[in-house]
Amino acid sequence: MFLPIFSFLLSLVVACDARVWNDTGVGTIVLEEAWAISDLGPSSGVPFVGETRAQLQANLIDVHNQRLQQMDENGIDFMVLSCTSSCIQGISDPQAAAAMAINVNNQMASQIANNTMRFGGFASLSMHNATEAALELNRTVREFGFLGALINDYQQSGPDNMTLLYYDQPQYDVFWQMVTDLDVPIYFHPRINIDLISNLLYSSHAPWLKGAAQEFSATLSTHILGLCTNGVFDRFPNLKIIVGHLGERIPSDFVRVDYQLQRQVPLGMPMLRNVTDYWHTNIYETTSGNFATELLQFHKEQLGLDRILYSIDYPFVDIADGTRWIEGLTGVLTREELLALKRGTAIKLLKLND
Ligand SMILES: *[C@@H]1O[C@H](CO)[C@@H](O)[C@H](O)[C@H]1NC(C)=O
Ligand SMILES: *[C@@H]1O[C@H](CO)[C@@H](O)[C@H](O)[C@H]1NC(C)=O
Ligand SMILES: *[C@@H]1O[C@H](CO)[C@@H](O)[C@H](O)[C@H]1NC(C)=O
Ligand SMILES: *[C@@H]1O[C@H](CO)[C@@H](O)[C@H](O)[C@H]1NC(C)=O
Ligand SMILES: *[C@@H]1O[C@H](CO)[C@@H](O)[C@H](O)[C@H]1NC(C)=O
Ligand SMILES: *[C@@H]1O[C@H](CO)[C@@H](O)[C@H](O)[C@H]1NC(C)=O
Repeated sequence: MFLPIFSFLLSLVVACDARVWNDTGVGTIVLEEAWAISDLGPSSGVPFVGETRAQLQANLIDVHNQRLQQMDENGIDFMVLSCTSSCIQGISDPQAAAAMAINVNNQMASQIANNTMRFGGFASLSMHNATEAALELNRTVREFGFLGALINDYQQSGPDNMTLLYYDQPQYDVFWQMVTDLDVPIYFHPRINIDLISNLLYSSHAPWLKGAAQEFSATLSTHILGLCTNGVFDRFPNLKIIVGHLGERIPSDFVRVDYQLQRQVPLGMPMLRNVTDYWHTNIYETTSGNFATELLQFHKEQLGLDRILYSIDYPFVDIADGTRWIEGLTGVLTREELLALKRGTAIKLLKLND
């Protein structure tokens, strides 16, 4: 019973896959947009003021109703869905994590199969075992047409959650090999910390700094700098990583980071180039939840607009806030620059025309 239905859904994905994206459209493409299945339990994310947890959860689960309606109202042509944080990275047991990743990916594929002109998917991956992560990425990209994967920072592991797995270590090279063979981007998204770290750093004195205001960038930027300094981009020069929230603050600190890291070279740090360099060749960033015009201009000077893509962070960020901001950039960017930010760079990076 299950198999025939499943093959039918697969054929729908393949049949609808011919997209007609071009650079002359005006609608936006957004790619850090959260979605959930009820099997994962309620989201730990914080609702807007005035919004209930139940409303947030309903918005996470929905695809074809209020989400699509807001896309229509706000000129969003295409949205890439991904499993809301911490998703698989919050599951310490390797078997349970691998099974949930398959469940999440299959449900996402079947939910978006009838509207692949408007919705794409980033895979969820268990990162306990790099070989298995590579195989699940391959399956979802080849069979479902997923556009890459989104990983919620480190993989927690071990019976007490005390082992944190970082993908900047050599045992993950088999995963990065598959990523570059498939030529898809991997989005690095934040997660809340395991309880031990969260209690020590935040609960003890400023619990409100957990999450998006501080914890997310502080934690995720370390992992991204780990990829750079452990030489992942030297071993995989074509690897494409996407970072949200206008770069998790790293570009503001390029000068200091590179200046200080020079001292580590004689001490055995394996990085061959410098962090600023990798951001020009391997890293893309999105504007998710960080609609700051002057910061965008600074990043345009530092990186060039061809490495910056529009995104929102729905349903944690209001779609209408994003629309007001991006439409207000008309006098700040040229028409060509604005089109690249809204959709052109995403079409190229996600290969939506291929
Ligand atoms: C570009 O795409 C838009 C829809 O997004 C369509 O209306 C238009 O005809 C397309 N233009 C070309 C040249 O294909
Ligand atoms: C896709 O299926 C969902 C669920 O059945 C439905 O709500 C939605 O209208 C469908 N979309 C299209 C474009 O057929
Ligand atoms: C990772 O998964 C592969 C493929 O299933 C398996 O051969 C290998 O032993 C696993 N590695 C570890 C460390 O468990
Ligand atoms: C990747 O998926 C394709 C298509 O399903 C399959 O032919 C290929 O063997 C897979 N690659 C690996 C390494 O398993
Ligand atoms: C490990 O983390 C999970 C999810 O964050 C939590 O439910 C569980 O209680 C934790 N286990 C321990 C032993 O702290
Ligand atoms: C980073 O490396 C590039 C050359 O690859 C160089 O031009 C630049 O000055 C370096 N930046 C710093 C801060 O060291």
